[in-house]
Amino acid sequence: MDYTDEIRKRRTFAIISHPDAGKTTLTEKFLLFSGAIQVAGAVKSNKIRKSTASDFMDIERQRGISVATSVLGFDYNGLKINLLDTPGHKDFAEDTYRTLTAVDSVILVVDCVKGVEEQTERLMEVCRMRNTPVIIFVNKLDREGKNPFELLDELETKLNIKVQPLSWPISMGTSFKGVYNLYNSSLYLFRPGGVTVADDVLAIKGLDDPVLDQQLGDYAVKLKEDVELITGTHDPFDANAYLRGELAPVFFGSAINNFGVKELLDTFTEIAPTPGSRPTDQRTVSSDEKNFTGFVFKIHANLDPRHRDRIAFIRVCSGKFERNKMFHHVRMGKNIRFTSPASFLGARKSIVDEAFPGDVIGLYDTGNFKIGDTLTEGEKLMFQGIPTFSPEVFKELVNLDPSKSKQLTKGIEQLTDEGVAQLFTQQQGNRKIVGTVGVLQFDVLQYRLEHEYGARCRFETMAIHKACWVTADDERSMEKFCRFKADRIATDKDGNLVFLAESAWVLKTMIEANPEITFHFTSEFKREMQV
Ligand code: G4P
Repeated sequence: MDYTDEIRKRRTFAIISHPDAGKTTLTEKFLLFSGAIQVAGAVKSNKIRKSTASDFMDIERQRGISVATSVLGFDYNGLKINLLDTPGHKDFAEDTYRTLTAVDSVILVVDCVKGVEEQTERLMEVCRMRNTPVIIFVNKLDREGKNPFELLDELETKLNIKVQPLSWPISMGTSFKGVYNLYNSSLYLFRPGGVTVADDVLAIKGLDDPVLDQQLGDYAVKLKEDVELITGTHDPFDANAYLRGELAPVFFGSAINNFGVKELLDTFTEIAPTPGSRPTDQRTVSSDEKNFTGFVFKIHANLDPRHRDRIAFIRVCSGKFERNKMFHHVRMGKNIRFTSPASFLGARKSIVDEAFPGDVIGLYDTGNFKIGDTLTEGEKLMFQGIPTFSPEVFKELVNLDPSKSKQLTKGIEQLTDEGVAQLFTQQQGNRKIVGTVGVLQFDVLQYRLEHEYGARCRFETMAIHKACWVTADDERSMEKFCRFKADRIATDKDGNLVFLAESAWVLKTMIEANPEITFHFTSEFKREMQV
């Protein structure tokens, strides 16, 4: 198969949702349809119900295949699908944001009873920032949910995107009858607990087909009215608007009942984008370029204490990745060869000899990689759009066992490389401050520092509202600002200056009073400055 066919075959995406909307269930049904798994229950939910570190660790361990589940590869209709897993808990949202940099499109699951929830909105904002194409799946139609027209309105206003239903529900809850596919005019009849099989799908000749009345009785009248309203207010579906990230097609179904899932998967494979081009600090890299490029979007520690190594997940952006070939690690300026890169099929992990754009490979790492690192065949470029967000919760790291300071330093260095948290060193007093986007990470850090590095520590609350990176064109202005706010200045791991604002008011005042200083809320500025 030639190189461009390999690219055309690939679809790399993530399923995202507010916890409990049905992401795990939908993932499992996709894997069942593709034959990657044979039994239900094989995919473990990664949500953390009790929100404690040991829960998190237990879940990671129970998953066992936690590394493998970071990406689930499967074949469907002659295509190679890469489904990237995202954590369920909101405290790990940053991990999800980073995973979204490695996909070409997204399926967003919404619970029809709850509608658009907080986490859905935040995730969607990230997709909108990058114009990632989104398909929406409204789930749990076997329950009495919100009116579908109301839901469409809510999706459009809360998610700030134009939506277009490609299927339409016929009633819901106990009287749920099925969905009418507006895309190909077929009728899918619902049988609770059943699997949608060919017999349940009726190809009808539009809404005037008598089969519709025979099957649906009074519900047919309501369906015809609804469809008239939809077609009256929507233009025919524009797949290009979807690909530009301007229009989100909407499907209705019930993941647990396997209803509407195959239809969603079939449409997804038909319209979802193939691996696209990506911006770097030098130029845009197109997927069909022959030279290999890729970037690290996730680092996962192997939680098995007997094996300390970590796995860096690389998204291939262009060219062909080959096992045992020398590649250039741009940030470190050195060449590295990978002898056992891993690929993933369902829950199985295997050594891969080659990988193409859209694929995700796991590279065993002994400390060479940080999130955002780029590998090339020698060209000096760094992929952009993999930001670190300014953290929202801050605590001081206090060592409880001075004889283990080395272990603590090493542990916190490595864990912050993984993106679990960010480390700042306050200039006055050399205090180590850890910043995260959620409180759960502190428990996770403490647990992992103790169990993986033998270092005991405590985290002390600090009155910091936000940390933002500061830059200035003129060195003297920066020196003046740092002198003036000396007790509030720290450096991040790369030595960049960071301002620790004690309150939103202080931050606002500082921004207004210091026009010569630029305050940055994501780490993207570092790359801009390297150009
Ligand atoms: P998540 O990954 O997005 O967090 O959601 P998950 O798939 O774990 O689903 C959350 C709950 O919703 C599960 O129930 C699941 O069975 C249920 N669910 C998923 N799809 C549907 C659907 O189409 N209809 C209905 N009625 N329920 C659905 P649970 O009780 O929390 O877990 P479990 O004991 O069933 O595993």
